[in-house]
Amino acid sequence: MKVLGIETSCDETGIAVYQGGRGLVAQAVYSQTDLHSAYGGVVPELASRDHVRKILPLIRQVLDEARLSSASIDGVAYTAGPGLIGALLVGAAVGRSLAWAWGVPALGVHHMEGHLLAPRLETPAPDFPFVALLVSGGHTQLVEVIGVGRYRMLGESVDDAAGEAFDKTAKLLDLRYPGGPNLARLAERGDPRRFRFPRPMTDRPGLDFSFSGLKTFTLHKLRDELPRAVDPDRTRADIARAFEEAVVDTLVIKCRRALRETGHRRLVLAGGVSANRRLRERMERVMTDEGSEVFYPRPALCTDNGAMVAYVGWLRLMAGQQEPLAIRPRARWSM
Ligand code: KG4
Ligand code: ZN
Repeated sequence: MKVLGIETSCDETGIAVYQGGRGLVAQAVYSQTDLHSAYGGVVPELASRDHVRKILPLIRQVLDEARLSSASIDGVAYTAGPGLIGALLVGAAVGRSLAWAWGVPALGVHHMEGHLLAPRLETPAPDFPFVALLVSGGHTQLVEVIGVGRYRMLGESVDDAAGEAFDKTAKLLDLRYPGGPNLARLAERGDPRRFRFPRPMTDRPGLDFSFSGLKTFTLHKLRDELPRAVDPDRTRADIARAFEEAVVDTLVIKCRRALRETGHRRLVLAGGVSANRRLRERMERVMTDEGSEVFYPRPALCTDNGAMVAYVGWLRLMAGQQEPLAIRPRARWSM
């Protein structure tokens, strides 16, 4: 079965084809980053308009690259939520309509389930069960994954998501959107010993997170340090590094705790922030010491993409699920 996957929940138009027995056949992502960077963040209205412009040419491109005719597609999966409602509507309307025109089943899938299972597109794929750390712009969650569709929430952020904290802190540091990767780049030059930021909620039991305090801590640090800095650029880099260290350390501490509490030996990292190099390195080192394995997909499968949607769609369509013609995207949707 060949499934076309469509992702339009935010500012990436992602298209892919997944085929059982073969894996990922083709994929393409168009990122709207340049469009939104002038505004310092995603402008929902512009995102929707750009998805409308790009989606059909991108589907054409992916099918052509894979030398597939539309007649060979057996099902269509699109992200039904959570996300920006206008952006979701584009992928949902196009995906559902194509499926109807082609006479094949369609299915709206959960964006976070896509992130959660994306590491299974890689070889070696993590076997079930595992603990997943989902860290994106909108979510920070620790999830116990027993199998497809069998998820238990272990903990989540009580305020800002990790990616959101990266993005907001990047703004304080005068970095351009997208903040997360730019902050990580600045932190490369920073001295990790100069400042020490708190590791929120690690001194008490539980697996929840809180990242909004780190953003405020950064703001105060900048106000205190910058006016008297001999080398302001250096200070900015040192503060970026201290922030990144604090986020990474906090995530590592909670993941170790989650593995110990559940008894699982596999940890899967997913979502945009899992593209962060320091997070990957530290997590790998600490979990190996614990006798556990860490899995993370290549960066292109960490950030938003159509491949994860095609894959989840394939799993669920194969299991016989499909949806009626009525389209029902959901801006908010718990997994
Ligand atoms: O999963 P994703 O592409 O979109 C959402 O579903 O939110 O995640 C985007 C988030 C953004 O907050 C972005 O700043 C962050 O992932 N991000 C990073 C890095 N690459 C992306 N954060 C830190 N370091 C990175 N290298
Ligand atoms: Zn995402």
